[in-house]
Amino acid sequence: MAAAAQNANAARIRRLSSMDANRQDLIGGPTVLVPPQQLMALNGKGHDTAMTFERAKMHLEEAVTSSEETSPRSSSPCNLPQATPTDRYAFAFDIDGVLIRGGKPIPAAVEAMKMLNGENPYGIKVPYIFVTNGGGKTEEERCIDLSKQLELEVSPGQFICGHTPMREMAERYHTVLVVGGEGEKCREVAEGYGFKDVVTPGDIIKTKQDVTPFRKLTEQEWKNSRNRDFSKTKIEAIFVFADSRDWAGDQQIILDLLMSKDGQLGSRSETFDEGPPVYFSHNDIVWSTSHEHVRIGMGALRASLETLFKAVTGKELKTTAFGKPQLGTFSFATRLLQQWRKEVYGIDKPPKTVYFVGDTPESDIKGTNEFNESEMSDCNWHSILVKTGVYQEGTIPRFPPKKTVENVLEAIRYGMQREFAEVMKEKASNGEVDAEKATEAENAIEED
Ligand code: G3P
Ligand code: MG
Repeated sequence: MAAAAQNANAARIRRLSSMDANRQDLIGGPTVLVPPQQLMALNGKGHDTAMTFERAKMHLEEAVTSSEETSPRSSSPCNLPQATPTDRYAFAFDIDGVLIRGGKPIPAAVEAMKMLNGENPYGIKVPYIFVTNGGGKTEEERCIDLSKQLELEVSPGQFICGHTPMREMAERYHTVLVVGGEGEKCREVAEGYGFKDVVTPGDIIKTKQDVTPFRKLTEQEWKNSRNRDFSKTKIEAIFVFADSRDWAGDQQIILDLLMSKDGQLGSRSETFDEGPPVYFSHNDIVWSTSHEHVRIGMGALRASLETLFKAVTGKELKTTAFGKPQLGTFSFATRLLQQWRKEVYGIDKPPKTVYFVGDTPESDIKGTNEFNESEMSDCNWHSILVKTGVYQEGTIPRFPPKKTVENVLEAIRYGMQREFAEVMKEKASNGEVDAEKATEAENAIEED
């Protein structure tokens, strides 16, 4: 892409107030969400990172849809902001239990983001993305929330949700059941992903109320739900986009479909292997909220459904989960970071190291470690476990991280110290600094 066209793309990225913006505002194209107090500043907190990732995501999507796109952007890296971010390494953050708990920022999180955005002893900015299993809202809406909560500029380009990969299934299935989340939110997300015919449990209950004997639709749900002739409807796949708000009703409906012939409600298969496939946006059994103990999540619903299916039919149910710890999620994150590096530095390779900061050993740490060891990874993914969420001090994590720290601020401090020590080591071997300086930097890394 020519430099002029690239600049035009840069100009198209809008800055909207995270306090006033709504979902509709974000449909118009690439956007960065800005906390109101920073709106007038041309270079607010997180500004460069958010802008450059939004551009990177835009180009990553173009690269997927346009096979003839061959010209390397590497020949014309975009204008660098004054304070240049490092290209050596990046951070990827889990959200619940690391940055946010019960809708509120974890105290260390706001300071942690400032540190990445230049308030550190090294005078650098470190790029970062967010990789959450959470969902139930569009990536854009999650982004509005996070910008408000962390008082930070954030772009949807920095965001990967558990259900983000479901977007690619919109081509494969026409009529789908979408389960979970608040009100009509997940229908909107699915339609936004390109699914053409989205059915919700509400539509089914509205059409035939005795489907769920103990679940009655609220007035609002009744208004939003769509009546249709289910004798003419074949549900081709079931997608659990977010946590179910009514386990009994939702499981009943999913079970009916799993036991049906070809997703035709009301029918019964004799073999119980003719129903549609079920996809979950992640598999977290528990997650971290404002409550003092972890709460059950979507993975628990999945386990329950599989047990229920076995109890009722005697057969095993195979379901699929996206999100972390699936390696595809980490691979997508690597591609995004690589694209970002190409945009900013003209280097078509991912950063050498990505520090993943998570609170759940079974998803964050397992996924990071396995991806790092897999052939899919061409950079180092370094797992850091924090104690502010699912993992509790004193327990032995099932999947051991490379480093355990108190909170996200310490995680950043550790990563930055480690990187600084590496740079000093390189400089010492080139004779640019004394060996003592390198040893000093090495000793400064906080050990477990
Ligand atoms: O439902 C969301 C939860 O299971 C985990 O979210 O941000 O910790 O990946 P996160
Ligand atoms: Mg978490």
